[in-house]
Amino acid sequence: MKNEIRQAREAKEASKNKKGDMIAICSANGGIGRTVMSTNLAVALAKNDMRVCNIDGNFQFGDLCLSMDVRPTFTIKDTVEELDQMDEYTLANFLVSHSSGVKILASPERPEYAELVTTSVLEKVYKLLVNQFDYLIVDTEAGLQDLSLFFIEKSDEIFLLTTLDMVVMRNTKMMLETFDILGQKEKVRVLVNKSSVDSVIKTADVPGILETENIFHIPNQPQLVTQSMNVGVPFVSNHGKTDLAKAYFKIAEQLLSKREDVIVTEEKKPPSNSILQSIFQKGKAARSIF
Ligand SMILES: Nc1ncnc2c1ncn2[C@@H]1O[C@H](COP(=O)(O)OP(=O)(O)O)[C@@H](O)[C@H]1O
Ligand SMILES: [Mg+2]
Repeated sequence: MKNEIRQAREAKEASKNKKGDMIAICSANGGIGRTVMSTNLAVALAKNDMRVCNIDGNFQFGDLCLSMDVRPTFTIKDTVEELDQMDEYTLANFLVSHSSGVKILASPERPEYAELVTTSVLEKVYKLLVNQFDYLIVDTEAGLQDLSLFFIEKSDEIFLLTTLDMVVMRNTKMMLETFDILGQKEKVRVLVNKSSVDSVIKTADVPGILETENIFHIPNQPQLVTQSMNVGVPFVSNHGKTDLAKAYFKIAEQLLSKREDVIVTEEKKPPSNSILQSIFQKGKAARSIF
């Protein structure tokens, strides 16, 4: 028993030293559930003692703060003037804290400020955040906008949300094809949101339509979600026993076990060869040839 506790503690320590994982929450169309997913997944991970930062990637009309009922003093726009001298401590001042422990990098307060956010801003912010958090959860803009592509390329996993709606499904398929062209398809995981809704397309049809296995289904619970969004309390916080919250805990659990697997594999890897060792080994190889 003591051994298990020690191992768990060591795994947690190792996890703190690992670079954070970035999850880009994407969808082809708007209104699919990216913001609901970003907020609830972030809180579900924070409940597991993870250090989580939620980034609102909808730089014109972001509503992440609203859906978590927090009022930001600063937004990503304010980091722009500080960019050259910014370090992880100054950046921390620009984040908003949620009661769950999740930190949020808010989107600009007005749509006209969105153009101040460029890829070089994102590059700097990403570099500083990725070493401070276990997870960066990005609520990206719908479709394949330039700035969303930055997050997509840098992400460790892409969560592509769809619904069973015909148009959404067609666009999701095109988005998947584009991810393939961009060399990003390996990272994609498809999630069917509101999957219990009655539709011409059935859940069983989805793998065939999208030519993808390993699809995660999230149930439709409109009342719970609407109420949670209106009061700004993520349902995983106060309705943890519902099917919807359970689906989110499951996703968080899968992410966590994947992260632990990576940490264990990295720890088991033999230490990389020193220059001297490499020369010695090359010498041995050369001798065995002659
Ligand atoms: N699992 C769900 N069950 C029922 N309604 C949902 C679910 N997820 C999201 N919604 C609803 O879908 C709508 C869009 O969600 P939102 O997260 O704002 O989408 P997006 O950020 O992709 O534009 C909201 O009205 C929300 O209440
Ligand atoms: Mg949204």
